[in-house]
Parts: sequence; C-alpha cells; structure tokens
Amino acid sequence: MGMNNIVSDVHKLEAAKSAMQELDISTGAPLRIGLGTGSTAKHFVDLLGARVAEGFECICVPTSEQTAEQAGSLRIPLSDLDHLDQLDITIDGTDEITADLSLIKGGGGALLREKIVAAASKKMIVIADDSKSVETLGAFPLPIEVNKFGLMATKNAIAKVAGALKLSGDLLLRKKADETPFITDEGHLILDACFGRISNPKELSNELLQVPGVVQHGLFLNLCQNAYIAGANGVIKLSR
Ligand code: A5P
Repeated sequence: MGMNNIVSDVHKLEAAKSAMQELDISTGAPLRIGLGTGSTAKHFVDLLGARVAEGFECICVPTSEQTAEQAGSLRIPLSDLDHLDQLDITIDGTDEITADLSLIKGGGGALLREKIVAAASKKMIVIADDSKSVETLGAFPLPIEVNKFGLMATKNAIAKVAGALKLSGDLLLRKKADETPFITDEGHLILDACFGRISNPKELSNELLQVPGVVQHGLFLNLCQNAYIAGANGVIKLSR
C-alpha cells in the first residue's frame, strides 16, 4: 500500500467509526442492517462484528458475496430480503459523492444488490474518505450493469441515449486481471461509462433505465440520507 492509500484507509476507518452512532436506534427488535461492499464498508463490518461479539443484536443483509463471507466469519447474523421486508438502515461506501448526496457507486461491481438493499432501507448512510467528494459526478466512470445477451446492441443504445443528453465517452467492458470479463454476483456484465462530467444525473438515470439490456446503473440519487466524510481535518457529517 502506498502512502496515499494508507492515509485514505485511515480516513475510511474514521468514517466507519463515526457512522457507528447511526446504530443507536431503538426499535424493540434486533436492528435490521444492510451491509455495503468495498474497502470502506469492510471497516464498518469489522466494527459491527466487534459490537456483535459484545452482545449487540442485529440481523444483516449483505450486498455482495464478499461482504457475506466477511460478516459470516465475524458471526454477524445474516438474512435476506425474502425474510426481512424492510431494513432499518444501510451503511455503504461510495465512489463519488456530491454536496447534495448524489452518488456514483459500483466500482466494486456490487451496485445492483447495493441499490436494492439501499432502496429497501429506511435510511442509507454513506461512509467515505474525502477523495470521494466531488462537485459534479462523472470523473469516476459510471458503472452500468448489463445483460450478457445483446451486449453490442445494449452498448449502442447506451451511447445513443447518452449522446442525446450531450454525454459521450468510452463504454468499457469491465475485465478482471486475467482479461476475462468481470461477472457480477447476479451474473451480468459491467460497462464503465467514461462520461467525465454528468451534469444531468436524473435524466441520465431515467434514460439508461429505458434501455432493455440495462439491468441497473451506479447513479444513486435521493437514496442517501447522511454521509460521514473523513479527511485530514476530521469527519464531516452531511445530511439531506
Ligand atoms: C461496490 O460496488 C461499490 O459501490 C463500493 O461501495 C465503492 O466502490 C466504494 O468502494 P471503496 O470503499 O473500496 O472505495
């Protein structure tokens, strides 16, 4: 890990620690928590594991196989959305976040389960280091989860709807280190859309969801309520 990564990892941990206060909700039942995916969410899951070991009662829905494995190894009780109709809270990382708490997620490829879990939660809380804060979304390529079937047709249709919104850039098929396509937990592919700057996320979101081969995309709009952003000067809480 380089120096910058070590510093940002410390900030990720600080953000995760601050978000622990969000668990102070009394519902009269074990707290139903959605667990995010990625290196920041991993810190939160570790902290939650320590609380569970001390007797904290919760039942959690992980947003990826990776998080399920980590949470399972920490003996965090797990369930799914077939058994819990709603979650009290979801804590997750992000790839970009604006001042109005719009997000780009999916750098780790878990965006579909992450969005389903966030939407099924009363509250979604984001934790991040301050390198994720942006004025406008889009410098981080937007992950778009697509069906394997008809990949080229889907890619062309995405380029067309983006072009109509004056957005352009490469649509890169995400690959693993061995150059084979990255496959999501739900068995789909990811196109990373290098638009650079997305000044109209709501329109883009709506249009992308009209493309038949698009399963979901990484724009999370109106989903996040609070964010804990950690940097050199401490942790800032943002609310919507
Ligand atoms: C996973 O698909 C993503 O949405 C992650 O939440 C996001 O990529 C943040 O990851 P890090 O916490 O590792 O930066």
